[in-house]
This record gives sequence, C-alpha cells and structure tokens, in this order.
Amino acid sequence: MATIGNDIQKAKQHLDQGELVAIPTETVYGLAGNALQEKSVLQIFKAKNRPHFDPLIVHIPRVEDVMKYAAEFPDKAKKLAAAFWPGPLTLVLKKKVVIPDLVTSGMDSVAIRIPRHPVTLKLLQTLDYPLTAPSANPFGYISPTSAQHVNDQLGEKVAYILDGGPCHIGLESTIVSFTHDAPVILRKGGLSKEDIEACIGPIEENDHSSSKPQAPGMLQSHYAPSKKIILYRSDEELKNIEHPEKTGVICFQQAPTHLPEEHIKVLSASGSLDEAARNLFSYLRYMDMLEIDLILVEQVPNHGIGRAINDRLKRATAKK
Ligand code: TXA
Ligand code: MG
Repeated sequence: MATIGNDIQKAKQHLDQGELVAIPTETVYGLAGNALQEKSVLQIFKAKNRPHFDPLIVHIPRVEDVMKYAAEFPDKAKKLAAAFWPGPLTLVLKKKVVIPDLVTSGMDSVAIRIPRHPVTLKLLQTLDYPLTAPSANPFGYISPTSAQHVNDQLGEKVAYILDGGPCHIGLESTIVSFTHDAPVILRKGGLSKEDIEACIGPIEENDHSSSKPQAPGMLQSHYAPSKKIILYRSDEELKNIEHPEKTGVICFQQAPTHLPEEHIKVLSASGSLDEAARNLFSYLRYMDMLEIDLILVEQVPNHGIGRAINDRLKRATAKK
C-alpha cells in the first residue's frame, strides 16, 4: 500500500524522480506524473491498464501557461478559462510539440485544465513541469473521490498519495473541444452546459460512443462497478424486487422501505444535485463491496450537473 499524507514537498520529490503520485482535485483524484517525460507517462498507462488510444489531461497552475503547450487559444476558450478556472473544465486545444505524442495519443490536440484544489494548485506551482493525470482508477472502473479509494485499487502502483480530503464536486471535469470551427462538449461533467452557454452562447454536445472515441469517457461502458447494475426511473419499478437480500438501491431522494437498511443509499435527501454528484461514486463503490448481486440506481432530474450524473449512470449501466 502507498503512503498517504499531505506533504507537498514529498510529492514533489517523487514526481521529480519520475514516479507517480495521486493528487486530489475538486472533481476526482488523479494519477499524476510529469507530463513532459515519456517515462512517467508510460507508467501512468501501465498502472491504470489504460489503452494507449485514450489521451490524458495536462494540469497547469496558471492560465499564462496555456500558450506553453497549446498552439492556439481561441477567444471563446479564453472566456471560459477566465470564468471557470481553476475549476471543473478541461479545454482541448491545438497542441505544441513540447507535449509528447504519448500524452495525446498521437492527436494534434491537447486537453488542459487548472484544477481547483489548494493542495494540488500549490504542488503545481512548485513544479517546473505540468502534471498529466487521468482519474486514479483502473481503466473503466469508478473514479476515486477519496485518498482511500485510490489506495484500495492503485495503492501498489503509486509512490505517494497526496490526501486533500473528499472531492468537493465528485464528477470529472467537463471537456470542451476547440479543435473545430465551433466549440463542442466532448464529456459532460462538473461544469454544466447551462453555465457554459451563459458564458459563450449555444454549444453542441457530441454524445457519440464508439470503440475509438474522441473522449473515452464517451465509451459506452465506463465508470462501471463489477456487479450487475440497472437504472430505474420510478419507485414503481422497485415493487417487485425478487431477492431483496441480494439487492442494493441507490436512490435520488427517497428510500424505498422494504430493503435492509444497509442496502440503501440516498444520494441527497434534500434533492440537491450537487450533493448527489458528490456522493455518487463512493456509493457505487460501497454497493460494489456489499454481498449483493444486483444494484438498482435511480435516474436524477436531467438539468445542471444532473445531466452529467445521468450520463455516468447510463455508462455505468451499459452492457460491457
Ligand atoms: O476531472 C478530471 O478531468 C479528472 C481530474 C483528475 O483532472 N481527470 C480525468 O481524466 O477525468 P481521465 O483521463 O479519466 O479522462 C480524460 C478524458 C478522456 O476521456 C480523454 O479521452 C479525454 O479526456 N481527452 C484527453 N485528451 C484529449 C484530446 N486531445 N482530445 C479529446 N479528448 C481528450
Ligand atoms: Mg477516467
């Protein structure tokens, strides 16, 4: 198991030596390495068992650094950066050669973000290279929202886990691409479409999934627990659960009563979508640990961050 702590200098020492460190962000924990060093980047793919066609996000401490790594910074991208960075927004921009092809899976664009977590921002400010960091989970599994989640699955594979407490948002960043004429949302996430449109006007969403997607968060089956999981839309659908003792329910606001108490998790009793987002991944992990063989999970209202939650649920429940 890895050492868990809050020593930024120690994290820096490991990273300077080309090792991997798990870092906290406001969205999910990342598995970080030196973005400019191929050896570190290779280790990341290996530790996650991640296919090389799935490019990584580069994390930077300040907006002035964008032009070190991107060849263009269009006006609308600048506007989004000014409004939402540091925060749960990733911009895909034309890349400069300094970013290794390994990071971008050979594409001519690079995904960049400034995370909003004081510990990781401080770390980034002390480094003289950016950090590339995918979510710190084995490929295709649920993203980690605590240091413990990282340790449970990748503890053997990281030198150090920088603990920044539970993630405040709990869902990955929203990815907006500027590589074509009009910007397009490639992945729904912690920043809502409504907020983006209030800033730069109408934007398209590219929801396709395929075996070689533009953003593998777009793979049909992703963010998935290992147990069977089914989406439901109303309590009616819970009336005839065949094996209550072998079933777990993650509901949005209200708990159905006829299941063992420890088999029920409520995303947000008060109906807050932000709270639901924060709880979702840890509840999925919780259910995956129970002695059950079916997880039923309720769709949430489809607006704001609720759309990103429903997107994750759709992928978590997709056939593998
Ligand atoms: O919130 C987040 O974004 C977290 C934290 C750690 O920053 N990171 C994260 O990374 O979710 P990851 O690797 O799990 O997801 C990154 C997504 C992938 O779906 C990848 O395909 C997409 O970003 N991506 C990276 N570079 C891209 C590019 N040049 N063009 C299109 N998509 C890209
Ligand atoms: Mg991921």
